[in-house]
Amino acid sequence: NPKTKEQIENLLRNGRNKELRDRLCRRLTFGTAGLRSAMGAGFCYINDLTVIQSTQGMYKYLEKCFPDFKQRGFVVGYDTRGQVTSSCSSLRLAKLTAAVLLAKGVPVYLFSRYVPTPFVPYAVQQLGAVAGVMITASHNRKAASSQKVYWENGAQITSPHDKEILKCIEECAEPWDDSWNETLVDTSTLMRDPLQKICASYMEDLKKICHHRKLNTQTNLKFVHTSFHGVGHDYVQSAFRAFGFQPPIPVPEQKDPDPDFSTVKCPNPEEGESVLELSLRLAEKEGARVVVATDPDADRLAVAELQDNGRWKVFTGNELAALFGWWMFTCWQENRSKGSDVKNVYMLATTVSSKILKAIALKEGFQFEDTLPGFKWIGGRVKDLLDNGKEVLFAFEESIGFMCGTSVLDKDGVSAAVVTAEMATFLDTKGQTLAQQLMEIYKIYGHHISKTSYFLCYDPATIKRIFERLRNFGSPNSYPECCGAYSILHVRDVTTGYDSSQPNKKSVLPVSKNSQMITFTFQNGCVATLRTSGTEPKIKYYAEMCAPPEQSDLAFLEEDLRKLIDALIEHFLEPSKNGLVWGDPLPGGHDSVPLSAA
Ligand SMILES: *[C@@H]1O[C@H](CO)[C@@H](O)[C@H](O)[C@H]1NC(C)=O
Ligand SMILES: *[C@@H]1O[C@H](CO)[C@@H](O)[C@H](O)[C@H]1NC(C)=O
Repeated sequence: NPKTKEQIENLLRNGRNKELRDRLCRRLTFGTAGLRSAMGAGFCYINDLTVIQSTQGMYKYLEKCFPDFKQRGFVVGYDTRGQVTSSCSSLRLAKLTAAVLLAKGVPVYLFSRYVPTPFVPYAVQQLGAVAGVMITASHNRKAASSQKVYWENGAQITSPHDKEILKCIEECAEPWDDSWNETLVDTSTLMRDPLQKICASYMEDLKKICHHRKLNTQTNLKFVHTSFHGVGHDYVQSAFRAFGFQPPIPVPEQKDPDPDFSTVKCPNPEEGESVLELSLRLAEKEGARVVVATDPDADRLAVAELQDNGRWKVFTGNELAALFGWWMFTCWQENRSKGSDVKNVYMLATTVSSKILKAIALKEGFQFEDTLPGFKWIGGRVKDLLDNGKEVLFAFEESIGFMCGTSVLDKDGVSAAVVTAEMATFLDTKGQTLAQQLMEIYKIYGHHISKTSYFLCYDPATIKRIFERLRNFGSPNSYPECCGAYSILHVRDVTTGYDSSQPNKKSVLPVSKNSQMITFTFQNGCVATLRTSGTEPKIKYYAEMCAPPEQSDLAFLEEDLRKLIDALIEHFLEPSKNGLVWGDPLPGGHDSVPLSAA
């Protein structure tokens, strides 16, 4: 690649040895999220060479795992990212990924056009491929890129596949003869374009979660959609048609792909009202009450709704999940066939997400399970449940990732957008808004108020000391029984595999030795998790007050949650003693201030 070669030569010419060392003496690692970095020259960045190397490693590993690799093939999708300075783009990196495999005789399903991320796991399952990758940087800053890997079950890879692939990458770092040969994409007879077939079958499968087509065709409600300069526009338009809707009104400035994301500071719809500015103004002009925003690779969804007081409510991930959970279950009940058993029905969420689905499940008699943070855990678990004859209606993570139905075993912003529209349409026929229905849900199943934030800590030894102290609180091998004035009912330590609520004291979640995560369930209904971030120098906390339905004094609940968090910080994190720095509130998820009951 002449551009990246030139970058390195310039650094050399200018004697920029430190920068050269940073770029060339460090290799980006391959984790369960696949390959992830900024685009640019050097082994620690994503570029032609590092993508070829990682694909060669994947080829080696998949060849070992699947004797029928060369019959079943491999799926490659990409978003609309691009960078002029390194001439890297998602499309080019996708073509190189394909070339490496084609040269080795593997059939490749390379989409002829950019697609939403969920289309790749969907295609892997539909086409019976052994695996697939999506080249995307999702909602990250514009220089970022990643090669996200899906296994044959349609879920993101989990350990130990990542470590095994990394080993294989290191064993074959030198590009093979034809690995650079992009022309193979145009000439190889092993090339397939799955676009038409996958789009048609995805839209057909969407109808499995469409329950009120007739209402959709008749509604006067208007919707605005923004695709944040990414891939979402056409696919969301088609999804609305599949549900019988008029297509949503697109935000013209943001509907077409733009790798520079010219109209938003940061292409993350989770940032709330500020990044939704153009959509909200357009919606006001058009008289649309609901705005749906897919992130640039359309795997996540934000929703805003105009309230009677003229203000917009931007829902948090946890609030949307309460609505989706209620909706998917209500639809299931209406359409349940004779003999279907509610005990066979499941919903899932990650441990750091709201427990609202658990409250709904308890009352309605279906099953709720939580998984480790990250959709890869949800995807894998859902697949197991389906294989065992269970019915899974919905799953989510608080960072606005939703899985409605089981056509795609990953978060999917396209299906979530159209399900939101159907839910709003149905509620509208009852004179209700989404926000009013959310309050109804809280009244029936109990209020759920959550708050998330983090501390910065650059010293791994300090982090270790903080968590070890909690494991040896007062005496060796014992966890705290209270936090200030708040009694603790149960402790789950995912790092060591301990769970005081289980008869054998063993956590049912996979042990996660390389990161710290302890969850405390308090007597008063609060659930709080302290957790380190795998990739950033952070100690995060997630706290939620889960109140019983009869407890409706919101001000009191909020005050109690605030006090409990203060106690948690003071007694368990000891910020001044440990030199922790208060972080910014996380985008979304934080301060999910509920609407007043009035
Ligand atoms: C690329 O592959 C094609 C088809 O196998 C071959 O004809 C061509 O010579 C190759 N190009 C290079 C530069 O190796
Ligand atoms: C309703 O139930 C029938 C029979 O079980 C099923 O075939 C159909 O897909 C369901 N419809 C929806 C929209 O879920």
